[in-house]
Amino acid sequence: MTAPDTLRSTASAPDAARRTPPPRPLLLHPAVKPLLFVAGLLPLAMLIAGAATDRLGANPAEALIHGTGQWALRFLCLTLAVSPLRRALHQPALLRLRRMLGLFTFFYAALHLLAYGWLDMGLVAADIARDIAKRPFILVGFAAFVLMLPLAATSFNRAIRALGGRRWQALHRLVYAVAALALLHFFWKSAGKHHYGEVSVYAAVIAALLAERLWRWAQARRAQRPPVRIHVPL
Ligand code: HEM
Repeated sequence: MTAPDTLRSTASAPDAARRTPPPRPLLLHPAVKPLLFVAGLLPLAMLIAGAATDRLGANPAEALIHGTGQWALRFLCLTLAVSPLRRALHQPALLRLRRMLGLFTFFYAALHLLAYGWLDMGLVAADIARDIAKRPFILVGFAAFVLMLPLAATSFNRAIRALGGRRWQALHRLVYAVAALALLHFFWKSAGKHHYGEVSVYAAVIAALLAERLWRWAQARRAQRPPVRIHVPL
């Protein structure tokens, strides 16, 4: 190596480090989203396989309603967990998964409504309306589903651009009302059978995720508040 080479090689070590891009976070790998998409469809595949091979127990219709309802709630918890996890793990790239998780929440809630409407109610609209009015926990579930509609409809870039960031964010705070209604729906349904185990776990997870947000909001408000000046007459 000639003298200028050594100079170049020695001089350029930090340069070389500066030139080589830092390793890309795993979450930015192009395979992550397709993998999440396949993983999101797995519960449905398992439910269909269970129904096709008669492994959903004595009441497959009920098992399908319960299964789709549970997965809707699980994806809702995952969607709400993205922001706190992003902050706690310093992984901004996690945010790119939130839309898909939110849409899977809507997808399983829609399958849940379909399973109820078709397998439980035989798609007879009058019966569905009567049942929704008669069983308040279903009315609450229905309200949660209706509130999901504008969230799902505005999940695409064009809608975000049309609404503008501030209005889009305000609209998507409806997800907190969806979480509360879905929990009330499940709790009310469970109250009938005094089975509080599962719903309590979901309630604890959602309470922790909302508490983290409340805490951060209170922190931000405290930081904004002007310092209190105490006037001491001399
Ligand atoms: C139109 C909307 C909805 C209808 C008609 C509906 C209907 C039902 C019905 C009939 C049950 C089962 C009751 C039983 O076992 O007797 C149920 C349970 C459940 N629903 Fe919904 N629901 C709706 C929306 C939702 C939404 C939006 C979520 C969640 C995001 C949800 C989550 C659940 C859960 C977790 C259960 C309990 C499953 C279990 O016991 O394992 N539902 N729902």
